[in-house]
Amino acid sequence: MAAPRILLIIGGGIAAYKSIELVRLLRKSGHVVRCVLTRAGEQFVTPLTLAALSENKVYTSLFDLKDEVEMGHIQLSREADLVVVAPATADLLAKMAGGQADDLATTLLLATDKPVLAAPAMNVRMWLHAATQRNVRALRGDGVTVMEPDEGEMACGEYGPGRLPEPAAIFAAIEDALANAPLPSLLPSSSTSPLAGQPDFAPAEHRPLHGRRILITAGPTHEPIDPVRYIANRSSGKQGFAIAAAAAEAGAEVLLIAGPVPLPTPPGVIRVDVETATQMAAEVQQGLPVDAAIMVAAVADWRAADTAAQKIKKDGSGQVPPLALAENPDILAGLARDPRRPPLLIGFAAETNDVIQHAQAKLARKGCDWIVANDVSADPMGGDANMVHIVTPQGVDSWERQPKNAVARKLMEKIADELDTRAPPERD
Ligand code: C5P
Repeated sequence: MAAPRILLIIGGGIAAYKSIELVRLLRKSGHVVRCVLTRAGEQFVTPLTLAALSENKVYTSLFDLKDEVEMGHIQLSREADLVVVAPATADLLAKMAGGQADDLATTLLLATDKPVLAAPAMNVRMWLHAATQRNVRALRGDGVTVMEPDEGEMACGEYGPGRLPEPAAIFAAIEDALANAPLPSLLPSSSTSPLAGQPDFAPAEHRPLHGRRILITAGPTHEPIDPVRYIANRSSGKQGFAIAAAAAEAGAEVLLIAGPVPLPTPPGVIRVDVETATQMAAEVQQGLPVDAAIMVAAVADWRAADTAAQKIKKDGSGQVPPLALAENPDILAGLARDPRRPPLLIGFAAETNDVIQHAQAKLARKGCDWIVANDVSADPMGGDANMVHIVTPQGVDSWERQPKNAVARKLMEKIADELDTRAPPERD
């Protein structure tokens, strides 16, 4: 697989020095990094340091004609898989939100057709100011991922949120953004969108899932025991979110019912957050009818029979409190029996051994059309790659281990083909 390409825009601010560590982390894991320094950023880190660490030319000025000959600013903004702004100052966020382009950094941000991730850093009052909060809301609405700043003591002596997240946290957010990155190769390459954070959408009517409505469940469910404790399965939600992103890019109307996960909503996806299996089951019912439902969520099989209103206390006696469980609804099996059963109903199964046999048994037991059997023996839980077998009554299609967004894209191609052979659902 080609190394991910990051365009890193470094704004001004005392935290700019942390971008040096970020470049080091990115290079260490094989990413290609191109740095752009704003004029203010140049006051805190030098182009020379960044060039040495990134092993790439560092760009500073829009009017450097030599740069235009080597690589125009439009090309620079698009020859990346992800644009990262760190530190994103209050001024840079305001310019991004307002669509201003008065220097190289802001011009690249306006011209890019790639996802954008911003890691803010500023004084606590500036971060909490209504104007900055309004800009952050606008940017998130435009599809830009804006991280929450860290909280702590600031260089200016004040305390609160506004510190640049640690380089390791920005690195993790970059990996998440890359895993959830749009998949333009699924689409005909006839169009480009000038909007930051938006994928290269082909005209709607040319997309393979245009006119289809797809429901996806993702993430874990949390079943409360008391106000501070819960029962849950291990699930990052990454595969389900990648599927939702790929479905939206393929032109479907996508309803994503998500358990508690800190992942950004993919562009074009309608997301409903839930906590428990009971809530997830109710939202699934609300979402019907759909052409296809893909149940990726790792739903907890049991919930606490009684939820304590107050925290259950250890009384020092060594006695453990009894925990009675009640069975949760099986959302997938319930949907298979529902009069409004989607024409294509897909379940997931995480298995460590006899993957295909277990998936075949699950297909029959749940009454769904396909099971995507996930071989977790190589531990993809929370990782970015997955090895799956598509188990259907007709046979088994085994796919090689690949990134979760590639699995999602391939699944959408298969779903689009399959839906062409099935009657649409009855609409209310
Ligand atoms: O039975 P198991 O949990 O292994 O089945 C996995 C499949 O069933 C997944 O598609 C999951 O989303 C779905 N499921 C569900 N409701 C449950 C349990 C599992 O929809 N209560």
